[in-house]
Amino acid sequence: MGYVERLSTGVQGFDELLAGGIPRGFFVAVTGEPGCGKTIFALHFAAQGVREGDKVIYVTTEESRESIVRQAAQFGWDFKKALEDRRLVIIDALLRERGDPWSLVEVTVEELIDKVIEAKRYLGYGRARLIIDSMSAFWLDKPVMARKYSYQVKRVLSRWDFTALLISQYAITTMQAYGWGLEHIADGIIRFTRRLAGGRLRRYVLVEKMRQTPHDLHLWEIDIQPGKGMVLLGKTQLRAEDVSLPEEVYERIARRGEPK
Ligand SMILES: Nc1ncnc2c1ncn2[C@@H]1O[C@H](COP(=O)(O)OP(=O)(O)OP(=O)(O)O)[C@@H](O)[C@H]1O
Ligand SMILES: [Mg+2]
Repeated sequence: MGYVERLSTGVQGFDELLAGGIPRGFFVAVTGEPGCGKTIFALHFAAQGVREGDKVIYVTTEESRESIVRQAAQFGWDFKKALEDRRLVIIDALLRERGDPWSLVEVTVEELIDKVIEAKRYLGYGRARLIIDSMSAFWLDKPVMARKYSYQVKRVLSRWDFTALLISQYAITTMQAYGWGLEHIADGIIRFTRRLAGGRLRRYVLVEKMRQTPHDLHLWEIDIQPGKGMVLLGKTQLRAEDVSLPEEVYERIARRGEPK
């Protein structure tokens, strides 16, 4: 097997689950229920990029740019400075303020792609990280488009030297197709989940898929700690096949969500 350049996630201990990190150029789906740590994981990835001198583009649809900067500051990362130093662009797709050069006016995939390319040009050449938090916003009123939009984003943006985290919400209980199309085109899937155990909320992470990588197959318990961010607590006894849907169920759901 040839040499694979890998990017650190910035979460202590997590890279080891991925044989060293996320392969350069990969588009990785990050899924999970609300409040289970997806954004915080993405912030780690962004902060690590800034630290390593990568160009970092963070598209935020659920929170404002201000909120992202504030959340990062809680864990000791100075995103304000990174913005000023042209190491980071935060594209705000929530407030959509006219006159702000890094806002989306319409939340469409076309505008997203154009804005991301513009941001990449602004940041200049070199290895780049892209975070889209979240992709679900782009197919909110038309979930059947998930697969087509995901494919479009990957096809166009993979030419720009991005290693990308594409976040999507996930609701197993309703079996909604949100995000399924995304998981289909992704080179990797990192799934966050949470459950109540012993009267306390516990959070977990699982690497469901990572091409070209002998990745860990366990469900890991995680915690989010003030001043520190995401911490791996330890592996549980559960393995991927205990908590994932069988492959044929994925296939069936993906087919059902296909555009006519
Ligand atoms: N500074 C902090 N210190 C400790 N825990 C925090 C801190 N900030 C957030 N958290 C915890 O992290 C949780 C939110 O995590 P995060 O924003 O990554 O979730 P998410 O998966 O992105 O959710 P959503 O789908 O709603 O965007 C909060 O509910 C809180 O429990
Ligand atoms: Mg979030």
